[in-house]
Amino acid sequence: MPVSLSAVPPHPEDCRLSEFAAAVLEGLSSSPRALPCRFFYDARGSELFEAITRLPEYYLTRAETAILEGGAEDLLASVEPGATLIEFGSGSSRKTELLLGSGRFAVYTPIDVSSTALADAAARLRRRFPALAITPLVADFTADLRLTGACGTAPAVGFFPGSTIGNFNPWDARALLRRMGALLGPDGRLVIGVDLRKDRERLIAAYNDAAGVTAAFNLNLLARMRRDLDARVDLDAFAHRTLYNETLGRIEMHLVSLAPQRIDVAGQSFAFAAGETIHTESSYKHTPEGFAALAAAAGWRTRRILTDDEKLFAVMLLETD
Ligand SMILES: C[S@@+](CC[C@H](N)C(=O)[O-])C[C@H]1O[C@@H](n2cnc3c(N)ncnc32)[C@H](O)[C@@H]1O
Repeated sequence: MPVSLSAVPPHPEDCRLSEFAAAVLEGLSSSPRALPCRFFYDARGSELFEAITRLPEYYLTRAETAILEGGAEDLLASVEPGATLIEFGSGSSRKTELLLGSGRFAVYTPIDVSSTALADAAARLRRRFPALAITPLVADFTADLRLTGACGTAPAVGFFPGSTIGNFNPWDARALLRRMGALLGPDGRLVIGVDLRKDRERLIAAYNDAAGVTAAFNLNLLARMRRDLDARVDLDAFAHRTLYNETLGRIEMHLVSLAPQRIDVAGQSFAFAAGETIHTESSYKHTPEGFAALAAAAGWRTRRILTDDEKLFAVMLLETD
């Protein structure tokens, strides 16, 4: 019987909705105001993210794809046939096809908060890899995940692409990597995509594209409040803002209030002055050595560091110590 995963507790749709309401109330009550970026990804948010990955300014997906096209065999050389691949924040699972194409995996468990992205990806992958057992899990990968059922003989390999680890500050990233290590077990391996430090202009353009797709993605958080929570909020009175915080080495995305106004949501009313912001996402940029040190502090040894020709992005193979 293959490895399977369960989230503890499970996340039925209605439970996720009230979780969104609770996060909005907490985030708009805090100072400075902030919302967790995982709430970007409802069906519309996942669609917009896919559009972002095709933008000329968004080098991340192209660079990571190029690395995996040339390096998947190398990264997976020690993986026994019949292994399980567990992906954290799988989205469309496009890059995953480059790992699944190796033929080494018998089971694929994509995990994502976006049920529509998971369902679309699973349907496509079932057509392309009919012999692969695909067991998607709608869950928050920061939750307490457990392997259930009899674990097969091969250990599980984790895949965490897309620079999603960059959404976590170094302390939370360390804690998350430690939990992933515990989940994947003593011979665990993790293939992880890490965005690298580079010049400010290139970074800012990737999160503030000329066509305004990233702005629509950011504003979708407010649109989602309207759709899911019946919020009263004027989308035209907020603007997308991107900045690079050089001291912390992170891109920040904010929603800026363009005028004095209120957001009414979940029975509460929040006043905004003109210029007041909601911090909606951070994306930490690393050096390969700095990320290897962070991973080491979470119990992972770095086995391989692959980069693209321009050294924009790194895919690293980690093994549990
Ligand atoms: C930056 S996108 C990357 C998508 C895809 N892996 C890629 O590389 O293109 C982040 C993905 O992780 C998912 N995600 C974000 N936070 C999550 C969380 N806490 N638990 C589960 N999925 C999450 C989002 O729904 C989205 O699909």
